[in-house]
Amino acid sequence: MNNSKTSSVSENMAAAEDYYEEYCASCHGKQVQEFVDREKWVHGSSREEMFEVVKNGAETDGMPAYGQVLTDEQVYNLVDFILAAIEDHKAEEFTSGENTDVIFISEGMKLKLEMVTENAESPWAITQSNDGTLFYTDKSGQLYSKKGNDTQEITGLPAVKFKGQGGLMDVLLHPDFDTNQRIYLSYSKPKPGDANYATTAVFSGILENNSIVNGKDIYIAEPYVDTNHHFGCRMVFDNDGYLFVSVGERGKRDDHPQYLDNHPGKIHRLNDDGTIPSDNPFYNTPDAVKSIYSYGHRNPQGLCYNPETNKIYDNEHGPRGGDEINLIEAGKNYGWPVITYGINYVGTKITDLTHKEGMEQPIRYWVPSIATCGMEIITSDKYPAWKGNILSGSLKFNYLHRDVFDENDDWVKEEKLFPEIGRMRSIEQCADGYIYIGMEEPGKIYRIIPM
Ligand code: HEC
Repeated sequence: MNNSKTSSVSENMAAAEDYYEEYCASCHGKQVQEFVDREKWVHGSSREEMFEVVKNGAETDGMPAYGQVLTDEQVYNLVDFILAAIEDHKAEEFTSGENTDVIFISEGMKLKLEMVTENAESPWAITQSNDGTLFYTDKSGQLYSKKGNDTQEITGLPAVKFKGQGGLMDVLLHPDFDTNQRIYLSYSKPKPGDANYATTAVFSGILENNSIVNGKDIYIAEPYVDTNHHFGCRMVFDNDGYLFVSVGERGKRDDHPQYLDNHPGKIHRLNDDGTIPSDNPFYNTPDAVKSIYSYGHRNPQGLCYNPETNKIYDNEHGPRGGDEINLIEAGKNYGWPVITYGINYVGTKITDLTHKEGMEQPIRYWVPSIATCGMEIITSDKYPAWKGNILSGSLKFNYLHRDVFDENDDWVKEEKLFPEIGRMRSIEQCADGYIYIGMEEPGKIYRIIPM
């Protein structure tokens, strides 16, 4: 029996809602939708069990501990707020993906969204071959192809560790895919013999009749660690045929990003077969991992390449505040966790520094975070007014973010596109010149059509 007066109950609820917005929404959704219809609660769905996990966290899964910044009462209020918010609700009631009938006007272009598929729950990445076949991954471990109305599941994939942020992630075609049918997948690889550990890996093989043959790992980040977040995992080819792979710091910010003797928290540069180019910046540095191209990264979940300027950019999911776009250059240090515009999820400071000699500044950063994932630089003639603009997805605010930079990469302006469309995971300018975007919860892929 709860003896408190109704007014203080609703005051507590209002305060809890504010706390939820401040501390939790970035990962669990503004409308608490992450907890609705949750089929399997990892830590239990009772009030006590939820209290435990919010207070003490689940660090290996990426859930911060709030006991140091919230009192027990505040944590209970939060739990009660979540329980009340999800009671008797179904996931379909939430708006994700519903706000798609609108025509959007941007820089004089009229744009609308066309549904491509609802087949994947979490379409982490999308690409297309020159014959118009679309390929997309589902984080749970599937790769699909779609030509016209014919959707096929591709076999011959590696086993992924589908847990936390891990799973099957990027898909990329070799620049000469038309002749060699070579395909690349990045994923969270369980450690052979001990699946408590995982790492970021790149698998490659030849696509033959809906199956990948002669597939093998051409890149495995070392070390394997026991966390299930910050895998990074985007891949791009540049004009010279080098393969760039982003690897997140795996939640070990003090061990990985600033040290050159390990792979996490870095962007790596490889030949198309996984061997290492001898002109890499640290190739001759004693004890350095030879594939490292740049370092000091947190969780680069977006990577894009402009073939016209030969420049590479990443976007990085920051902590609380401090998501970034960086211009990626050989041998440079992007500063994590020594400099950042972000703070810890629980509100405590990571560092006082935003600048330091020898460390690069982002060309754009977000406070608060928009929770970036997916990235593309637009070069297609289909969207003339967007040429050279960078698109980033927002997992947190459910929209597509457009940034305009000048030729010196100085930030000019921004636009928020397709508000409330859904948790945006992937953005790709495909071979047909159209931009495709992938949303999760529920999973959908759309094509942006200029009218
Ligand atoms: C940095 C991202 C992040 C933030 C911020 C965050 N969480 Fe979590 N939380 C997670 C992850 C990751 C998990 C692991 C389980 C999952 O979601 O699949 C989790 C799990 C949980 C669980 C247990 C779910 C289960 O299945 O047992 C609860 C309850 C929870 N979080 C509540 C909160 C509350 C309340 C807040 C705000 C005070 C919060 N979280 C903030 C990432 C986050």
